[in-house]
Amino acid sequence: MGPDRFPQRAARVKPGAGGRTRPADRGGPRRPERGRWLAGESAAAGCDYGCVPTLTDLASRHTNLTSADLECLHALVSDWQLLADLSFADLILWAPVRDGGGWVALAQMRPTTGPTSFQDDVVGTMAEPGDGALLDTARDERRIWRESDPDWTTGVPVRAETIPVTREGRVIAVIERNTNLNSARTPSRLELTYLQGADDLARMVAEGTFPFGGEEATLVRSPRVGDGLLRLGRAGRVTYASPNALSAFRRLGLATDLMGAELGPVVAKLCATCAAPLDESLMLVAYGRVPRDAEIEGNGSIVQLRSIPLIVGGSRTGALILVRDVTELRRRERELMTKDATIREIHHRVKNNLQTVAALLRLQARRLRGPEARAALEDAVRRVGSIAIVHETLSHAPDEIVAFDEVADRVVMMASEVAGTEIQVAPKLTGTFGPLPAYVAMPLALVLTELLQNALQHGFAYPEPASGETKRSTGSVEVSAVRGPDRLTVVVVDDGVGLPDDFDPESSSSLGLQIVRTLVVGELGGKLEITPRPEGGTQALVDLPVQEDERPKDQEG
Ligand SMILES: Nc1ncnc2c1ncn2[C@@H]1O[C@H](COP(=O)(O)OP(=O)(O)O)[C@@H](O)[C@H]1O
Ligand SMILES: [Mg+2]
Repeated sequence: MGPDRFPQRAARVKPGAGGRTRPADRGGPRRPERGRWLAGESAAAGCDYGCVPTLTDLASRHTNLTSADLECLHALVSDWQLLADLSFADLILWAPVRDGGGWVALAQMRPTTGPTSFQDDVVGTMAEPGDGALLDTARDERRIWRESDPDWTTGVPVRAETIPVTREGRVIAVIERNTNLNSARTPSRLELTYLQGADDLARMVAEGTFPFGGEEATLVRSPRVGDGLLRLGRAGRVTYASPNALSAFRRLGLATDLMGAELGPVVAKLCATCAAPLDESLMLVAYGRVPRDAEIEGNGSIVQLRSIPLIVGGSRTGALILVRDVTELRRRERELMTKDATIREIHHRVKNNLQTVAALLRLQARRLRGPEARAALEDAVRRVGSIAIVHETLSHAPDEIVAFDEVADRVVMMASEVAGTEIQVAPKLTGTFGPLPAYVAMPLALVLTELLQNALQHGFAYPEPASGETKRSTGSVEVSAVRGPDRLTVVVVDDGVGLPDDFDPESSSSLGLQIVRTLVVGELGGKLEITPRPEGGTQALVDLPVQEDERPKDQEG
């Protein structure tokens, strides 16, 4: 659905990039001239090629604004799209320059409801002390100052207004609003409602009551004027409903007319017919009493409402309610959530299936007579088991990210269960693996299983001691992990017999180390070193590149 429609105005064309110029013979306060970039402010100032300095940068370099003032201006700027849209006008935020007068443009906003008056950015430009008379007047008289006759220099009538921005009784900045008057001769109801709302808001800015303090930020973008608009009168009755707003309420199941109705009871009734719990904050919004966002659900549609109470000169003039149909947006969000749940369920089932496979292999192994065949099947059981562990972890992890320390704990436990030597070894785990994406966790679990198995199986396979020698009864195996900003290093050491003399890690053709090498070097792009320790025993080192905030990549990777 497009924005609420209104008659299009002719775009205003600026004479060149230098800002508009005014006839020299004009009397009265002069509107600020634009187009002069502050020295060192544009492309030259530490940012390449025309990047626009931020509000904070400009304010701290050129003005005396305090941090509380700035906070207020940030709040204003984060919400002034509303004012620009309702006014069909361009807004420029000017702040007085420290020492010597003049003004600096801190921010600018174009309307989404009409053509802009400024093709070029004006942020960072400056109005000389004499040029900013319109701004000075708004500040000095602390009221909205409206130029009596429109400016025709660009061929289109533009009325400039200046609105003081007040905080705690002080004018801290001035908004220049340039309204294109071209369509003002035959404005529609919608436009009149917009403009009236804009005037109320402008007065609230001047009185220091807009933006509202302490409004909670919403997760979804707040509705815009063009999404749909209701105007409530003083008593909470709808005095205007834009076509989009009407459609949204129709979709919620409203059969009666909105115009003239009190919005609060209408919303309460809608909630009652669809058996939704009556949300208190929704009711506050529907009565237009507090500035807030809420959602109403009914008839399979979800509509977001944002209320902007209008209080001008101390008395309530009503409220604006922005209305946005968010049904599609919410549906997609829910779909994504269900997708995540489905993926986890699948991991759960894969784990179950792998455990079944492992159990079948184990049964088969028991029936075999040849020890070699039996050992081979037992190896397979372990390999399948280690993959099952990762799937199990993924079945209760969001976003395909595995807390690998949990996996490592269980891999170590599994390895020590099947270790079949007479020497007692309880493998130890130190350091942290941290979270790993599934596509790293899967192979790493397998690698760890193989290395541990080798340490336990081969490391302590001592030949029978000659008579008189005492048999070794304990040994140690330690797995340690170090997680750096972009690497993970895992070392498995044992203090056992050490590698055989003819050991060559590169050419070893046995399956275990072949799997390890393929996964570490080939699949994960890491490094593998298996070396004898000087003090006896063996060390296997795996070093992998891992990104800190690594998110799951496409599965085929
Ligand atoms: N920690 C270790 N201590 C002693 N020897 C090892 C160790 N790790 C590997 N080896 C040697 O490397 C060989 C190859 O290991 P591997 O490829 O896993 O095959 P397998 O474990 O099936 O023998 C082993 O047979 C063993 O001789
Ligand atoms: Mg092995």
